[in-house]
Amino acid sequence: MAFQDQFSYHGPTRLLMGQGSVGNMSDLLKEKDLKKALIVTDQGLVDAGLVGRITALLEQSGISHSTYAGVAPNPPIQNVLDCTAHYQREGCDHLIAIGGGSSMDVAKTSGVLITNGGEISDYFIGTGGPVKNRIPYLLCVATTYGTASEVTPFAVITDENKYKAAVAGPNIIPDVGILDADMAVALPRPIAAATGMDALTHAIESYVSLASNPVSEGMALHAIRLIAQNLRQAAFSDHNHEATQNMLVASTMAGFAFSQTRLGNVHAMSHPVSGHYGVPHGVANAILLTRVMDFNRYACPGKFADIAVAMGEDVVGLSDVDAAMLSVEAVENLGGDVGIPNTLSEAGVDSDGIQVLAEDTMKSGNVVVNPRKTTIEDVIALYEEAM
Ligand SMILES: [Fe+2]
Repeated sequence: MAFQDQFSYHGPTRLLMGQGSVGNMSDLLKEKDLKKALIVTDQGLVDAGLVGRITALLEQSGISHSTYAGVAPNPPIQNVLDCTAHYQREGCDHLIAIGGGSSMDVAKTSGVLITNGGEISDYFIGTGGPVKNRIPYLLCVATTYGTASEVTPFAVITDENKYKAAVAGPNIIPDVGILDADMAVALPRPIAAATGMDALTHAIESYVSLASNPVSEGMALHAIRLIAQNLRQAAFSDHNHEATQNMLVASTMAGFAFSQTRLGNVHAMSHPVSGHYGVPHGVANAILLTRVMDFNRYACPGKFADIAVAMGEDVVGLSDVDAAMLSVEAVENLGGDVGIPNTLSEAGVDSDGIQVLAEDTMKSGNVVVNPRKTTIEDVIALYEEAM
């Protein structure tokens, strides 16, 4: 421990984990005497029948519900306004997010407006103030294994300038997260790959963060191990409940870890890429991850050597510097195996936009905890390398 000699750990979300665990959700809602849920989700999950499973459970328990299914990828502020209006119009008293980070983040930020009022930009990190009042009771059902928004104090929304702005604080941490393989086992391979690589990015960035601590490091390292052992199977084998469950748990552990430590240059650089070019968050991260690992590895070779071991590499007899290189190769191999594009140009990014992307990157609070000191020139060089 160097960057911070004192640390605290705050992870209040109650988790229900394991295949079939979604069946226990109504007991928790009844315990709180909740009467009417607003389900926050996207149309794809309604069409896939996953939302219907939840509404059936609610109906069996006599809990009313209404559904806002307008969540878009990289959700814009308008989603938050529409969701908030829907909640108020329908007289709901709690939120159930079903989906990945987009649905959960719309639920969190709508919750902020419901109990705090004002505009969502009043709460953006950097330009706004803190979220003073606790959001309504929020239960999150994960259908991907990426953002871990079910346990984090963060929500990311895309503003009118295509900047991905974050709202954060203990008052937006969800009350309950449900990690049930049944809800994620049919994830299409590209989404499984992208969200799994997002979770790996969380774990790696948290592990090497200047703000890491022994608790976060333990969670991050085991998350890396679980992802290395399960992502390929979860993405490629049909209805593999065991691999899916391990990925859900790994994602959440990585979320607990980065809730304590923030992230690093990969997320600082990937948010502008998604905001300006609509590249899925996990894809943008996966493309940038190996480049940023290579940039960072001399700053803390011992930690990258640990990552190589967690990824399953044999480092016996190697120096930390050489073992660190194996961590980069192992991540590159995993991304390639699950079908992530190699370059930002393949993902639709235009090199003319690098200056704007780099300026947005430097606004991120993640750059200051990146283990290697980073200038805007470094960021431009990393984007150019990834094109
Ligand atoms: Fe992420």
